[in-house]
Amino acid sequence: MTIWRPFTQEKVVPSAIKITKGDGLYLYDERGRKYADLISSWWVNLHGHANKEIAAAISEQAKTLEHVIFTAFCHQPAETVVQNLQTVLPKNLDKFFFSDNGSTAVEVALKMAYQFFTNQGITKRKIYLHLEGSYHGDTYGAMSVSGKNSMYHFHFSDFFFDTISVAVPEYYDGVENLEEKEDKIIFDLENQLEQMGDTVCALIVEPLLQGARGMVEYRPEFLEKLVKTVRKFGILVIFDEVMTGFYRTGRFFAMDYLSKMTPDIICLSKGLTGGFLPLSLTVATSRIYNAFLSDDFNDALIHGHSYTANPIACAAACKSFEILTRKETLENIRKIEDIHRTNEVFGTQKRRTLGTVSAFDLPSSEVANQLATKLFEKGIFVRPLGKTIYLIPPYCILPDELRNVYFEINSALREILR
Ligand SMILES: Cc1ncc(COP(=O)(O)O)c(C=O)c1O
Repeated sequence: MTIWRPFTQEKVVPSAIKITKGDGLYLYDERGRKYADLISSWWVNLHGHANKEIAAAISEQAKTLEHVIFTAFCHQPAETVVQNLQTVLPKNLDKFFFSDNGSTAVEVALKMAYQFFTNQGITKRKIYLHLEGSYHGDTYGAMSVSGKNSMYHFHFSDFFFDTISVAVPEYYDGVENLEEKEDKIIFDLENQLEQMGDTVCALIVEPLLQGARGMVEYRPEFLEKLVKTVRKFGILVIFDEVMTGFYRTGRFFAMDYLSKMTPDIICLSKGLTGGFLPLSLTVATSRIYNAFLSDDFNDALIHGHSYTANPIACAAACKSFEILTRKETLENIRKIEDIHRTNEVFGTQKRRTLGTVSAFDLPSSEVANQLATKLFEKGIFVRPLGKTIYLIPPYCILPDELRNVYFEINSALREILR
């Protein structure tokens, strides 16, 4: 028997460690060893592992209604998820389409954008704009908008649809001439769009933070300019907040850093259920939604998944939202950011911090792996992205626990880089 793991070269990576229990920040293996989960288990976990309140909500819901086809039927947990989100989303984003993971949320957004035009008889907008090095998931549409050179998806690039890749002006401590770089990118893009802007359907971005690329940060000012530019050409705007949503960046959504600018479509997943169950949402404006209304079934969004809006996952999302909006959760989020900003890291480059996420680069991926191994021996789990190490802890982490992580990182780096 073999369990084939994701993103793993099975030939060289040691066999998986069997985890038997989670509790708050920690995971426990079958030998009783504990590991602090500094990457929130692929960025999904918000309130710690095996959170008792979410577990109880799930249990209650499972005993009441486990699942129901989400076409003729609806249910209270789904309605509450939507009502909750409506209180934190811009008012114009109010059409909620459920699916079950980040990739499908993106897939739905891409389809919505394209069909928005074709339903109006506009068939030449077939190209998508995306940021260089972006990651939006592993299904074909989502892969396509990562670009043909994506380090994750190059095997399949022959099958991708056409895209234009926009350079990213990286922001980090000590960066120079950033505004000039930003303006040059916008200038070049605008020139290109003058030629073929009317063939572009949508721009998709991970707002302010490109996660899988290596927690690459860019400024809200750049995103505002980018959005303004593409809108001149009638191009729709999709924000993929699958990773950045739910206070990861210090605000409820990364787009909350923008002044008076909202996308046409937003994708949410990962933290939506606090990290308990797969669930996602693609949220659109009325303008998008109305283009799908007609007497003809063929104008509908003909897309759906068996577990769409699973009530148990929705119950987890409702409880997670409740915890998220508590004063103490917000205080913890502020403390995490503060500790990230006040703890220096020895011998590193390109330090960047946004909310609960902090990252830095090491001289090479070998060094990053060495650091990860040393931390692992100390019971701290991180997962390098190339030469980048990042910390994205659950919000329940205590200040001393996070300070200790920095202490261990610095001790290890002093040895490795000596
Ligand atoms: C920004 C972003 N979009 C989409 C996805 C895909 O989500 P999933 O892994 O749930 O399919 C990810 C996953 O890391 C992501 O970071």
